[in-house]
Formats: sequence, C-alpha cells, structure tokens
Amino acid sequence: VMEIKVGERAGFCFGVDRAMDFALKEGKESKNSVHTLGPLIHNPQAVDKLKKADIKVIDQIDKVDDGTIIIRSHGVRPSIIEEAEDKDLDIINATCPFVQRVQEKAKQLYKDGYQVLISGDKDHPEVIGILGHTDNQAIVVEELSDCKEVKLKSKVGVVAQTTQSLNKLKKLVDYLLPQISDLKVHNTICTTTGQRQDEAARLAQDMDLMIVIGGYNSANTNRLAEICRENGAITHHIEQADELQVDWFSNIKKIGVTAGASTPNWIIKEVVSRMAEIKQDVEEKETTEESTTL
Ligand code: F3S
Repeated sequence: VMEIKVGERAGFCFGVDRAMDFALKEGKESKNSVHTLGPLIHNPQAVDKLKKADIKVIDQIDKVDDGTIIIRSHGVRPSIIEEAEDKDLDIINATCPFVQRVQEKAKQLYKDGYQVLISGDKDHPEVIGILGHTDNQAIVVEELSDCKEVKLKSKVGVVAQTTQSLNKLKKLVDYLLPQISDLKVHNTICTTTGQRQDEAARLAQDMDLMIVIGGYNSANTNRLAEICRENGAITHHIEQADELQVDWFSNIKKIGVTAGASTPNWIIKEVVSRMAEIKQDVEEKETTEESTTL
C-alpha cells in the first residue's frame, strides 16, 4: 500500500500567509481599488488569484491617487508609509511581525549610537526597508569584504535579514568580535525556513519519492528539492497538480510532499488529491498484475 505524507511545515510561512489573507479579504470586502506595493508573492498561481480578486500591483506609491495600499510581508522604509499617509491612502500594513522586529532593533541600535550592520542582500526589499529605519545610515554586509572596506566605530550593532543563513551571520560576528568591545548582535533570522528544510530532509530520508511543490523561479523551493535529493529520495519539483506523472509512482511505497514558502495551501491540496487518485489507479493495476502472475 502506498503511503503519502505531507510535511507539516510545507508551504506558506506565517508572514506570507497573513499578507495573502489581508489582501484577499480587502479585495473582497472593500469598494476601494486595492493595490499591493510590489508583488505580494512570486508564485505564479497565487499572482493569478490576486489578479482575479482585482488586486493590482504597483511599484511606486505615486502611481495611485486613492484606494487601499497593502504593504507586503517584507516591510518598507518609514518614508513610504508617510508618503501613503500624505496621499490619504488606506494603508494595510502586512509587514511580517518578525520583519518588524528587525526594523525596530535596527532603529534602536541606531538611536543608541551604534554603527548598524545589516547582514543580508543589498537589493532585497526587506533589507532596503530595514535600512530606512536607520535613516539609511546602516551598512549592508553581503560578503565580509563589504565591511572590511568601512571604518568601524567603537560601538557596532548587528541585525540580520530574516532569511539570512546562520553561517553568514556567524562569519560576520566572528570577524567583528576580536576588534569591537561594544558589540551588540540581534539574531533576527526567522526560524521558519530552517525548520521547513530540516523537515524536508527528515522526510526525504524516510521516503522513496519526494514531490516538491513551488514556483520554478522560487529559490527556496529549488533549495528544498536539492535537500531532498541530497537526502536520498527520488525527487520531482512541480508547480501544479497536472504535472504529476503516473509512471513516477509505480513500485513506490512511501511518498513525501513538501512545498516552498511561497506555495499556497490550495495548490498543495490539489496536488495531494491528484496523488490520491493516481495512488488508487496504480494500486489497482498492481493488484491485477499480481493476481494474473499467480
Ligand atoms: Fe515568513 Fe515572516 Fe519568517 S515572512 S520567512 S515568517 S520573517
């Protein structure tokens, strides 16, 4: 008998789930025109769903004159909220509380006279938002070389982009510790990503086949597929249920399912129910084959 197991941590993280809920609710209930500042999510099917709910994506506040603006989970610089307030837009701030925490820590460090270093990606919207909370005075450290070029002050404070790898944060702290006596480090890495990856690794060790669901352009979904392969499971990365192929499932006993952080729950459900149908077909076929050989 074939067994299908879906990872508990598969799919949307708390922050993205919350932002999607806010947006869809507002799209349904509000008579206003509703906009998100930047795409809420990179999953193509989720983007479609938002479009159908008549939620538009804009890249700058000055592109709208009225209605509602939704701030996505990455957060923004304070000046953007002010700009939206000046224009009298309704603001729904869906900044993930974990991102808000990074913004507040960075702001406090800056206020307390620390030279603020943000361990993260320079072009990432979350980092640009955090930077704005330090009057754009913080230094973004992507690679260690970025901070070797600057003159460090005697008081240094460190925060990290929520999706930063622990390894990179460690490297930065290792470099600073011997030379800075007043060093404050806030480990602001969000644990969801790590937990999802650990779970995928455990599942993959146990299962014959792993189905990984998520956008082909989603970095974290690709990483999940890589982890599953590294842990010994035959792995297929798909975006949608109709990509499942029946022959993947013959002679397979245990199947695990995981999904990237931007994969909506309804897609996971569709995939699992399609798998249940395939499972039934395959099992029926295998029993008939067995009885004919007997
Ligand atoms: Fe998601 Fe918020 Fe963490 S958006 S990855 S729960 S910081």
